[in-house]
Amino acid sequence: MRKGQVGTSRPAAAEGRVRIGVVGAGAFGRRHLDYLSRNPYCEIAGIADPAPAAAALAAERGLAYYADVEALLDGARPDGVVIATPNALHVPVGLACAARRVPMLVEKPIAESLAGARSLSGAAARTSTPILVGHHRRHNPVLERAREIVQGGAIGRLAAVTALLLLRKPDDYFDVPWRRVAGGGPVLINLIHDVDDLRFVAGEIAAVQAFTANAVRGFAVEDTVAVALRFAGGALGTITVSDAVPAPWSWELTAGENPLYPQQPENCYLFCGTAGSLAVPRLELWRYPGAARWDAPLARAVLAVSGADPLARQLEHFRRVIRREEAPRVTAEDAARTLEATLAVHAAAALGGTVAVGLDSG
Ligand SMILES: NC(=O)c1ccc[n+]([C@@H]2O[C@H](COP(=O)([O-])OP(=O)(O)OC[C@H]3O[C@@H](n4cnc5c(N)ncnc54)[C@H](O)[C@@H]3O)[C@@H](O)[C@H]2O)c1
Repeated sequence: MRKGQVGTSRPAAAEGRVRIGVVGAGAFGRRHLDYLSRNPYCEIAGIADPAPAAAALAAERGLAYYADVEALLDGARPDGVVIATPNALHVPVGLACAARRVPMLVEKPIAESLAGARSLSGAAARTSTPILVGHHRRHNPVLERAREIVQGGAIGRLAAVTALLLLRKPDDYFDVPWRRVAGGGPVLINLIHDVDDLRFVAGEIAAVQAFTANAVRGFAVEDTVAVALRFAGGALGTITVSDAVPAPWSWELTAGENPLYPQQPENCYLFCGTAGSLAVPRLELWRYPGAARWDAPLARAVLAVSGADPLARQLEHFRRVIRREEAPRVTAEDAARTLEATLAVHAAAALGGTVAVGLDSG
């Protein structure tokens, strides 16, 4: 089922233009469509989504419409595809792209399970199909700078990390049934981003302990979580999570990435090393100018970075990945490690113990 099909010829490579299809034109797929329409080097090859609302959107915007990913791939012959379907479909849709060697930007999480992530990354490797996973915060100049500071040694040897994910979701957010049951809570929806951020800045996570609670709302899904982490480099960390509390301390509310949330002048991550500490996203670097002791003056420097939009940068990177000019910044294997550490939060809470993380550990 298709209508309004546009031309199927490939763009001239020399122009640098790419034609990208969007699979799943729901809330986030529409954001991808907006970014695609603003990038002068990108053309929307079509939308694949069985929902009547998606067909209506395609008609309204004059875009080619397909009911499923295969029809989009074979009909529009895009140079690349953005996959913004419900999580359970990331793997089957991604496999359809890999079978046709079409590079893909897969929204997070790469899959719902490690087995799913492995099957998709295996298929992509066998067919040499690039996969970029949509952990878009890695394209944020603030996190790039934080990583440079922490990994470059400016705060010495990293000893402790604190992350806060504290915010209040509206009551009507939970009118959608899947958000009230396992998988629909802050761990797999929100915390997976913070886990990826911490891995990006502080290095691999080696072990996880956690408590989860649902006492505030009383739904089956968690609303509050306490996580303890051991990083492979030796640092220890904690993450405190609740999506049921009025509070400004989360990446969502402090980073200013999404115009939906008023930006708060606070921090949500603290990286603490033997020579200083860094508060993020305000990039406040705290160090002793003289003797390092708690009764000496402590100086705060605020570091400057560009305010570039991470989703726009991610799309520009994806365009270069499609053109084989850059390797994916977040590979399927990398995203699978983030998924593994995030799933370990639920596993550790259920176990009441420590869960080792690291795909090599089995
Ligand atoms: N990177 C981020 O910050 C971020 C933010 C929000 C959502 N996401 C991710 O984006 C994805 C979509 O989330 P959402 O909030 O837009 O969900 P959504 O439910 O609003 O949209 C999903 C869309 O997929 C469509 N769909 C269902 N089955 C399909 C199929 N077989 N083929 C094609 N389309 C199909 C649905 O009709 C719907 O339009 C999720 O994986 C989510 O984790 C990422």
